[in-house]
Amino acid sequence: MAAKNYISREITEEVRSRNNIVDVISECGVALKQAGTNYKALCPFHEEKTPSFSVSSEKQIFYCFGCQAGGDVIHFLQKHESKSFVESIEWLAKRANITLPARDAKYSARQKRINDLSELNTFAVKYYHELLRTGQHSQHAREYLKNRGIVTKTTNLFQLGYAKAQRNDLVKTATHEGWTVEQLVDAGLVKNEDKGPQDRFWNRLLFPIHNERGIPVGFGGRALSNEHQPKYLNSPGTDLYNKSRILYNLDKARQSIARKKSAILVEGYMDVLMLYQHGIENVIAASGTSLSEEHAALLKRYTPEVVIVFDGDVSGLQAAQRGLNRLIAEEIRVRIALMPKGDDPDSFVKENGADAFTERIDRSINLIEFQIQAAVQEKNIRRPDVITRVVRDVSELLVNIKHRVERAEYVKYAARELNVDEGLIWRELRDLGLKETPTANRKIPAKKMTIREQIEYKFIQSLLQTPEHIPGVKSVFDYNDISQPHLAKIAELLWRASENGDTVEIQHVLDNCEDEKLKNAITRLLISGQVISNHTSIIQGCLKKLRNYIYQDVEQRVRSNAFSGGDDDLEKFKELVELSNQRRAYAQKQVIQLKQKTEHTDAATDTSTIAKDFK
Ligand code: UTP
Ligand code: MN
Repeated sequence: MAAKNYISREITEEVRSRNNIVDVISECGVALKQAGTNYKALCPFHEEKTPSFSVSSEKQIFYCFGCQAGGDVIHFLQKHESKSFVESIEWLAKRANITLPARDAKYSARQKRINDLSELNTFAVKYYHELLRTGQHSQHAREYLKNRGIVTKTTNLFQLGYAKAQRNDLVKTATHEGWTVEQLVDAGLVKNEDKGPQDRFWNRLLFPIHNERGIPVGFGGRALSNEHQPKYLNSPGTDLYNKSRILYNLDKARQSIARKKSAILVEGYMDVLMLYQHGIENVIAASGTSLSEEHAALLKRYTPEVVIVFDGDVSGLQAAQRGLNRLIAEEIRVRIALMPKGDDPDSFVKENGADAFTERIDRSINLIEFQIQAAVQEKNIRRPDVITRVVRDVSELLVNIKHRVERAEYVKYAARELNVDEGLIWRELRDLGLKETPTANRKIPAKKMTIREQIEYKFIQSLLQTPEHIPGVKSVFDYNDISQPHLAKIAELLWRASENGDTVEIQHVLDNCEDEKLKNAITRLLISGQVISNHTSIIQGCLKKLRNYIYQDVEQRVRSNAFSGGDDDLEKFKELVELSNQRRAYAQKQVIQLKQKTEHTDAATDTSTIAKDFK
């Protein structure tokens, strides 16, 4: 909140208006081509063959008709570069030479500490990397990498490093460069010991760990001999390095993950490097910690699916079980790929090549299937007490699947594999608190829009294109009369935004809208609207037709409730007459109100024609 307050609406607007969305998106590496009034490109947020990503220079928004992502230049940066709102503003301000106001002292102090930490880490990464590349005493480290098949290009790309065997080499060098021992300790690079400050890493091969934005936050250090223990030593958590939020290589992998809509999760640094070197780039690791809720949430921002690769032994699977449930809770599809016994991804891809590895990934089986398969392998599965327990265990997995169609599929699958009745599993699921029944699981085919729905769509779209009409329309039309809930909600937002009869700024409506889906829907309506000059007459036409539908609705409702052929039909008939009189009076009143209103409005021309037409 505090962070958001520091950026006022005026600043947001200035930043937005001084950064052309077309330029910014191009600079972020999206190849835009002009197509009519819009620009088009292959969507950077999902894999596709024909471009459905559109950018409107006129409206300064983007929208993808494939994956429904949309928004303004700030949204684009948030989504594409994983920046926060404030970071996006700061980045755009810098780009346009806009000076932002200073933040409050407490915030600045913390921010300064974090900036210092990341600067110090950057320094350490460079220093260690240089030692590995050219140091006199790092020949054995270079040999080690060579023996393991890591090529120079990979060493450089991952900025691998080497820490000398001396225990205070970094302390000496860094303090000489002006860093304090305290800062080095804060960064986890140095430990205070009896004999004075000592480097954490010595005689180790170093893997710099970056956050998803590419800022170095820590290191993993591998020993170069078996005697040197532990095999891997990792940086401690720091102000900058929150271990449950960092996934190794996410900075380099995220674009590929988003495009492939899938991430490959492996166990080790070496696995990541070797796969990347073989052209498999959507690969990450949870470097030395178990998968956390935050990891899962972080991944969810990039992908609906994670393939977890386990080494040949299955013991790791049990250990990871908790992490897996977190992924499922985030509604991430989890699939499991196994390496042959004795292999890890590093050794496997080195021996068998990228295609063989990819084939294993493609053949990976869904976690649920995997678990059902494991259950099927149970001894004495046909013994009543065993099958009862297994059905219960499997149901506990199934109840966690949030997507109903998917759940129904797996109920079928489980019933078949366990050779039990589907109804038995559904009953078990109900006992576990599931409300729905199997019949509710049929897929509903997407239906075509009715004529009324099309009119509503055009109506809202035109209003978004010409928001100056909103105050006039609002006074004669109730948004509750729109039959499609999402359009009614948009209208509600628009009506609200013109509370005092003010002209509505669509950008403000978008800024204040918390509902991501609704925001995307508005963007979609904005960008797919044709550039036409006669929105006024479209709105008039829509109003007229919608009014007819609404009256039909009312009549219909009254009629269907009214006549049952019983004694009191006459009473009901009277009621109906009364109702239609009221309706006529109401319509009359609306017109009068509207007339009065338009007489006071400056932009009376357009609005009053709408009003006249509404009679
Ligand atoms: P492994 O022991 O499977 O090593 O640990 P590895 O990745 O195959 O490494 P190489 O091939 O022997 O070099 C898997 C991961 O577990 C963490 C590290 O992140 C490692 O990459 N780990 C392992 C530690 O944090 N500390 C350890 O002592 C060992
Ligand atoms: Mn290994």
